[in-house]
Amino acid sequence: MKNIAAILPFTALAAGSALQPRASSVTPITVKGNAFFQGNNRFYIRGVDYQPGGSSDVADPIADTNGCKRDIEYFKQLGLNAIRVYTVDNTADHDECMNALADAGIYLILDVNTPKYSINRADPNPSYNAVYLQSVFATVDKFQGYSNTLAFFSGNEVINDPPSSAAAPYVKAVTRDIRQYIRNRGYRTIPVGYSAADVAENRLEMAEYMNCGSDDERSDFFAFNDYSWCDPSSFTVSGWDQKVKNFTGYGLPIFLSEYGCNINTRKFEEVASLYSTDMTAVYSGGLVYEYSQEPSNYGLVEISGSSVSTRPDFDALQTALSGTQSPSGDGGYNSTGGASGCPSYSEPNWLVKDDSLPAIPDGAKAFMTKGAGTGPGLAGTGSQNAGGASTGTASAGSGQASKTGSSSSSTGSNAAGVLRASEISLAPLVCAGFVVLSSLFGASLL
Ligand SMILES: *[C@@H]1O[C@H](CO)[C@@H](O)[C@H](O)[C@H]1NC(C)=O
Ligand SMILES: *[C@@H]1O[C@H](CO)[C@@H](O)[C@H](O)[C@H]1NC(C)=O
Repeated sequence: MKNIAAILPFTALAAGSALQPRASSVTPITVKGNAFFQGNNRFYIRGVDYQPGGSSDVADPIADTNGCKRDIEYFKQLGLNAIRVYTVDNTADHDECMNALADAGIYLILDVNTPKYSINRADPNPSYNAVYLQSVFATVDKFQGYSNTLAFFSGNEVINDPPSSAAAPYVKAVTRDIRQYIRNRGYRTIPVGYSAADVAENRLEMAEYMNCGSDDERSDFFAFNDYSWCDPSSFTVSGWDQKVKNFTGYGLPIFLSEYGCNINTRKFEEVASLYSTDMTAVYSGGLVYEYSQEPSNYGLVEISGSSVSTRPDFDALQTALSGTQSPSGDGGYNSTGGASGCPSYSEPNWLVKDDSLPAIPDGAKAFMTKGAGTGPGLAGTGSQNAGGASTGTASAGSGQASKTGSSSSSTGSNAAGVLRASEISLAPLVCAGFVVLSSLFGASLL
């Protein structure tokens, strides 16, 4: 007994320190007007898309601690402050990787969908169900506690041509539900938005749609994938000047969730444009597609087993980023922000009949008060035909946070549900009591 007693405290200590890695922290990113902020400073996303193995080999790269720590060294060489991950296992432990990323000053932008738990653009209604939302909310639960979780993507390229615009109400409903879940659970106000495909026929409609209607139905930002700058090119030749013009006055932050056309040799000359005042009044940076070399040939590095070798594209991006400072000051952002008008139905490019959204599926309502519980991970049986789909139409305001009774969260989380997107930046900066006041003040201005 004596020996065991002497050993136990030591063992417990060792196990304790292994189980509870030091929680690293960075200043959480907030939204103000049409820009992101890190404290009082404008924040531009300088990132890459990170999914080694690609979409065919669905693996969670930030549950792979060794791979994550290995790759952070390359992220640092590139001077990145963000990565986007498309698929995670919501049963896995991400503490070590997330803390190592935070130590390096790197934030995570996370897609909440997985191949088996996602909206089916061809037949969206059955796929918008409680089993699906349980997985989505379980992912939010896993990542809400990290200060370096920058944002959640509610969907990626669900609308990828004019006909699939009919699925847009489902993308918007999922966005609403995630935002409501975050507020009801008393979590930090983590921005939620959609990553759109660059569909010329309805790009602007999609952006306006995600930012129209009542505040509970609007997004916190809008992102799209853009491969239209193919070196050698320019701000005008690429058409980026026209996009800046068309998005001027849009009331939410916009960034490129994928960029880096690979038709010709990549010099990443678009980097100089993206972080110049040509664009920063409207854009907040972007994410280069993509870190690892996959069959589509966009890689910055080649991963072989556990070793990494850089490709010429890595050097080109490193040169471009290191030679490009962000503008000083606020980059000319629009501090007002605000809602867009809803686009009107217009065949054949925009097939959304009116502004109403599907109601949250009945079976998912309880998650708002009780939490989602353990997620299905990547090995689950999938949700698209799980039953329990949404049956009704939501009324405006249905996505507002409601009181969660005995929840330990502050009243601030409840109030945050009615904050306008342009005001949510206040929430993390001030105490909960002031949030309530600012929310009431904001509401009186509506
Ligand atoms: C900008 O808007 C105009 C007018 O709606 C449209 O014709 C044009 O295609 C848009 N350009 C881009 C690059 O989005
Ligand atoms: C700023 O945003 C508001 C709301 O979206 C808009 O009405 C206004 O035109 C914008 N100002 C500029 C200079 O873009």
